[in-house]
Amino acid sequence: MHQIKFNDFQKEYSTNRHAYNSIFTRVLSSGWYILGREVSLFEEEYASYLGAKYCIGVANGLEALQISLMALGIGKGDQVITTPVSAAATTLAILAVSATPVFVDTDERGLIDTTYLQKYINKNTRAILPVDLYGQPAAIGEITKIAKKHNVSIVEDACQAHGTTIGQKKAGAQSLLSCFSFYPTKNLGAVGDGGAIVTNNNRLAVLCSQIRDYGQKEKYNHSRYGLNSRLDELQAALLRYKLQNLDKTNQKRRLLAKKYIAKLSSIKDIQIVTDMVNESNFHLFVIRTKQRQKLKTFLTSHHIPTMIHYPTILPDQGFMKGKVSSKASLPKARKFVKEILSLPCQPFMSVSDVDFVSAKIKQFFEKNEH
Ligand SMILES: Cc1ncc(COP(=O)(O)O)c(C=O)c1O
Repeated sequence: MHQIKFNDFQKEYSTNRHAYNSIFTRVLSSGWYILGREVSLFEEEYASYLGAKYCIGVANGLEALQISLMALGIGKGDQVITTPVSAAATTLAILAVSATPVFVDTDERGLIDTTYLQKYINKNTRAILPVDLYGQPAAIGEITKIAKKHNVSIVEDACQAHGTTIGQKKAGAQSLLSCFSFYPTKNLGAVGDGGAIVTNNNRLAVLCSQIRDYGQKEKYNHSRYGLNSRLDELQAALLRYKLQNLDKTNQKRRLLAKKYIAKLSSIKDIQIVTDMVNESNFHLFVIRTKQRQKLKTFLTSHHIPTMIHYPTILPDQGFMKGKVSSKASLPKARKFVKEILSLPCQPFMSVSDVDFVSAKIKQFFEKNEH
């Protein structure tokens, strides 16, 4: 039987056992576990990989976003324009600083639609928080133009976009502040939680590194309010190793995505969301179909794991009860989340796995025609 996994951490470990074990031995025997040499080196190496000036390692992606908003002084009474289609953390970060999320409808790819953006900017708007959903780059060029015109900041949620490119540049290197998650399922994933903030602005970099560490300027001098949101040495050391292979593993994801596209494009009941037009890292490979639930059930019966990223738009989540500022109907986002399905697409899969999944999808739609 074909055994396909949506993520395959055991295979990753068995393939890299020697390297991972020696990294852990190195860190454990160093006797230094928090904010040390490994974190500093990772910050330098990741900033350099992205072509940005500063990287600040933090505890997770949610706090990367929260700290970025805190560094910008965003709080009660302020509005942050964002997307309704993302992980909960995108909105939770806005709520964490007591600001109000304002949701703008999405485009065909599930990304924030820049044609609607300006309409939502008012005197309380402090930032735009777009998401590079599934690893597809948000329209940062267009968003930057709008942000500059209205003098608002951009905090990019690049939590799914490690290694995504925009022309010659990397996603996350162009916004005022960009945030990454190193949750294990990410293209650059730790073996626990982790995150980072990336910026080219020295003042904000200093502020973010203070906020992640109790607001300390130097030891026991807490010049401002802060959190405990530190990346640890073990995760940083592992991330340094995995960063060396990021382009290679992203290449493998693109190869699998290309194969999916070749196999599925002819099925008229499917729309491919993550096509090759953009420069995605293919964190997720996502299709749309009106028969989403039936197809998901059919694939499950053939032991093919699929997921839905995400089944509910963020303003409809329980934590938003009583908090939605505008009664935006968001028709495109609502339709999008009813139709999307994420197919398995990870570097430990083979091209023949993609052939197998594609054949089953074809079989489902042929069967359904009769
Ligand atoms: C788009 C997006 N934003 C934010 C986050 C939050 O990251 P974390 O889980 O590391 O807090 C995630 C990860 O789940 C994400 O996918």
